[in-house]
Formats: sequence, structure tokens, C-alpha cells
Amino acid sequence: MIKVSGLSKTFKDGVQAVRGVDMTVRAGEIVGFLGPNGAGKTTTMRMLTTLLRPTAGTATLAGHDLLADPRGVRRRIGYVAQSGGLSPATPVGTDLLLQAMLYGLSRPQAHERVAELLGLLELGGLETRMGVTLSGGQRRRFDIAFALVHQPVLLFLDEPTTGLDPQSRANLWDHIRALRAEHGVSVFLTTHYLDEADALCDRLLIIDHGRIVAEGTPDELKAGGTLDDAFLSITGRSLREGSPA
Ligand SMILES: Nc1ncnc2c1ncn2[C@@H]1O[C@H](COP(=O)(O)OP(=O)(O)O)[C@@H](O)[C@H]1O
Ligand SMILES: [Mg+2]
Repeated sequence: MIKVSGLSKTFKDGVQAVRGVDMTVRAGEIVGFLGPNGAGKTTTMRMLTTLLRPTAGTATLAGHDLLADPRGVRRRIGYVAQSGGLSPATPVGTDLLLQAMLYGLSRPQAHERVAELLGLLELGGLETRMGVTLSGGQRRRFDIAFALVHQPVLLFLDEPTTGLDPQSRANLWDHIRALRAEHGVSVFLTTHYLDEADALCDRLLIIDHGRIVAEGTPDELKAGGTLDDAFLSITGRSLREGSPA
């Protein structure tokens, strides 16, 4: 579903944010990109979603070459950015409907698709609300609904649960699992939460200073200890909330 080779990004100011990333995501997998702030997670994701041009490297996503066929890639993927994207002063259902029509659906088709998405993400009854009046968890679910309008086979989520309370996080994990189970969507997500990586992901890639420094299932990486111990021994620092690096 994703195959990446030697992906790199050096920004104009000389920052080498991503340094030769190789990785694979198989169809139907939920893969987590785990790393501390500044590790290069968002930069990698923005390159893979065609929003940022790589300095070097190649990638194929859902059968489309990233550099030769970015439009083909965009048709097959959905992306939820770290900051989210709801407009504050439009009813969220209207936003969603417009998004569906932008993708070429007729008005009746768009209404049908929106109803489907509202059901899928348990957002029924909230469509007349403004983005600002939604809870953090509801907002994230609307962000995901937007990313799913065109029925992508591959979904990118940049820190989907950052800032959410524990209950909303667990609820979002359930929705992400259901997307895979019921719709076969492959998911590539970034996180700096060890519990999220452990509970939600089939496989983890650990990124630090722009390089992948370890990969495996959560259990393989833990190898009998905790994921935090593994992270500490791999990167020399702890990811556990509140503990000194
Ligand atoms: N547009 C940019 N220009 C220059 N440096 C950037 C830009 N975007 C990100 N960076 C730098 O690249 C590194 C990786 O950032 P990022 O990919 O956002 O990390 P993460 O998402 O893992 O927190 C950081 O040092 C960051 O400051
Ligand atoms: Mg980021």
C-alpha cells in the first residue's frame, strides 16, 4: 500500500528533517510512526501526501508513483493534518456536503455520502453545529469524515488524539479500528503516545532525528519489557509523559 525508499527532506534553512526513510505499509495494516517532537513525522507525512516535495527518494502509494502521479496518489488517500481543518463559522454538515460536491458527487449523492459518514463516525445530529461548538473528540471525528469523503483506501492521520481526554482517545481508536475492519482502509498515523502505539497499531516505526531507528510489532519492540524501556534503549530518551528526557 505504501513503499518508500530513501525519502529525504532538507529545508531551505539547512534543517535535515528527514534523512533517508525506507518503509513499507501493507494493505489493511495500521502502522504507527512513533517519535518525539521534531523527529520528522509531520514532514514525512506531508511528503507522502503530496503536500511537500521531497529532496530525495521515491515512493509508491496505492499503486501510484508519488512524484510521477501525485494526482493519482491524492485520489486514493485521505489526510488529517495535525491541526485539523474545520472552518469555525460554517455548520459542519454543510462543510462536509460541499466537500463531497467538490469531489464531483451530485447533490443527492453528496447527501447520501454525508449521511453515511455521519453514521460511520457517530456524528448524527451534530451536522448543524459550528466547528467551534464541538468537543475535541467530535472535531477529530469530523476531520476524519472529511478525509473519507472520496472513499480513500489509505488514511493518513497526524497525531489524531493529541489533546483529547482519555475517553475520547479510546473512542477514536475504536473508530480507526472499525474503518480498517469494516472498510479495509489502511492507516498510517503519527503519535508520540506509547499507549496509543501499543493499543492501536499492528506495527510501529520509530523515528528519531529524521531516521527510522527501529521497527516491529509493539510486542517485538517491547521484547518482554515495556515500550517505554524499548524506546529509551533505542533512542536514549524517554517518551513517557512527564518524565525527564
Ligand atoms: N517548513 C519548515 N522549515 C524549516 N524547518 C522545518 C519546517 N517544518 C519542519 N521543520 C523542522 O523539521 C524538523 C522535523 O519537524 P516535524 O516533521 O514537524 O517533526 P514532528 O512532526 O516529528 O514533530 C524539526 O526540526 C522542525 O523544526
Ligand atoms: Mg508533527
